[in-house]
Amino acid sequence: MPFPQNFLDELTARSDIVDVVGSYVQLTRRGANYFGLCPFHSEKTGSFSVSPDKQIYYCFGCKRGGGVINFIMEEESLPFPDAVRFLARRAGLEVPEETGDREAEQKRRRLLDLNRDAARFYYQQLQEPEGRAMRDYLDRRQIGQATAVRFGLGASVDRWDALITAMTRQGYTKSELLGAGLAVQNKNGGIYDKFRNRLMFPVINVRGDVVAFGGRVLDHAEPKYMNSSETPVYSKRRELYALNLAKKSKRPNIILCEGNIDVVTLHQAGFDNAVASMGTALTQEQTRLLSRYTKEIVLCYDNDNAGKIATERALQILNNSEFTVRVLRLPNKRMEDGSMGKQDADDFIKVFGPDAFERLLTGSENGVEFRLAQISGKYDLTDDRQRLAYAEEVSALLAGLESPVERDIYTVRAAEAAKLTPEAMKLEVQRAFKRRMGKERRARERRDLNPAAELQPKGRDLRYTNLRSAMAEEGILRLLLLDDSLFPETPPLQEKEFSSPLLGRVFSLLWRQREQRSAPKLSFLAGELSGEEMSHITNLCQKPESAANGRQALADYIAIVRREAEKRAGAGTADPLLAKMEELKDQKKSDGGKRHV
Ligand code: CTP
Ligand code: MN
Repeated sequence: MPFPQNFLDELTARSDIVDVVGSYVQLTRRGANYFGLCPFHSEKTGSFSVSPDKQIYYCFGCKRGGGVINFIMEEESLPFPDAVRFLARRAGLEVPEETGDREAEQKRRRLLDLNRDAARFYYQQLQEPEGRAMRDYLDRRQIGQATAVRFGLGASVDRWDALITAMTRQGYTKSELLGAGLAVQNKNGGIYDKFRNRLMFPVINVRGDVVAFGGRVLDHAEPKYMNSSETPVYSKRRELYALNLAKKSKRPNIILCEGNIDVVTLHQAGFDNAVASMGTALTQEQTRLLSRYTKEIVLCYDNDNAGKIATERALQILNNSEFTVRVLRLPNKRMEDGSMGKQDADDFIKVFGPDAFERLLTGSENGVEFRLAQISGKYDLTDDRQRLAYAEEVSALLAGLESPVERDIYTVRAAEAAKLTPEAMKLEVQRAFKRRMGKERRARERRDLNPAAELQPKGRDLRYTNLRSAMAEEGILRLLLLDDSLFPETPPLQEKEFSSPLLGRVFSLLWRQREQRSAPKLSFLAGELSGEEMSHITNLCQKPESAANGRQALADYIAIVRREAEKRAGAGTADPLLAKMEELKDQKKSDGGKRHV
């Protein structure tokens, strides 16, 4: 354990989970628990719960949960030791520092320093004679000096060791350069600059730290971009290019586009609210980040097929979120041969200017309008058979809308587009809506009838192999957390008697806390379990368990776990691989039997 147990005791005692969570999420009391909108996924109705008794939070929507330290780790994107320090500062407690942590923190700091110094170096290179090609490229793309400075653009020159030489001269080691993803090692162990002969885009997080780089070629060579690898200070799922600038924008929304160049051009044209997800699909983490700065997102992806797919995926992620979402559709570009071609925001601004873009922005459609247009584009609405197919596809889309008013408005609009009567279209949508309700009810019933599927943890690695034993093991953990005085002085079970390795490990960890004379608490496990494991343990604590019949329940649970463990040992297949093979054989036998009847 990196921090002494008595310090963590004090810390969690002074960091009430309702207080801490309450400073991020608006909570309302309902019975014994508090509820609010989940900060970890987008939703309109609160499925996020906080239990003051158990000092845990759990979201029934995204199934994330944990104790107060996990909450800070998730919400502030901090590793365990930093989350502990964060809470300590909040509670006015002094942290008994452990050297290991200070080392990790110093490494992070050093990585950030190196990135910043590298960015400075690339920036300087852009002004040097060797940066000529990149300056010319900026001219060609009509990116002005002031804009280049605002984005800290730079040049990696056409040499193998320009950066390495400059950075080692400043005192950085080769292994630091490799660790930052700025240098690459060849087979013979020699190292060379990762970015060469490219226009450099530093990625700067909302705190103003340079965390990564993207480098674009100056011609049509492949790959078009090279990007920093993931490091302790950079995870591409969690960053958005130019959010450090866009977060200060006075505009009412944030424009999300595909490319770095689009962002730079948009900012230059006065749209300082543009960001890019750097070629990846929008992630849940990125929407969480955005929700700190805006209530409205405008999707402005390229108008080619890939862009349309990316738009659809982003709409799915943003579906039922608290964001207002709009889609800005760029018109197609007329190519020299008369055909219609791809266009991105950068192309558009350069041809039609900022005012035209502003008009597109004002007139941009909401998500439903975008999807309706996508569907109507697929059909020839003068053909009767195709109108039928159109009506069917549209009603499936509209049946998915939660608000009856919205359903109504778009039903009428969809009818107009295909010259159908609104009444006929309404009937069609109602039928689809009933089908959807029926489907959802059946799915619920299936879940109720087949609890085993529900009881299984979601993550693959956490799967229970012996459900009967695992349910009893869960019960033991719940009781230990509820009232550890029910337990004898010595552990009633050994870790290896647990059928689930995770539950066994958690049992040992909680027991160790008890031996260190503190009441076992989930919050203390934040540093020992992954987010997924922690969420799973928090979830099992949601199930009812009463200390009233605790003693009997505990005895029953222990008996079950023991019996199942003996069975496993007795089968002579203690080797999990052998056990698995036996299981497969059994399955084959019964499958074969079935096939013959
Ligand atoms: N990208 C990437 N790797 C690639 C291609 C693209 O990481 N091989 C990312 C970059 O962040 C890029 C974004 O995806 O900015 C969008 O790609 P694209 O539209 O091709 O690049 P732009 O920066 O817009 O450049 P341009 O439109 O001028 O070609
Ligand atoms: Mn582009």
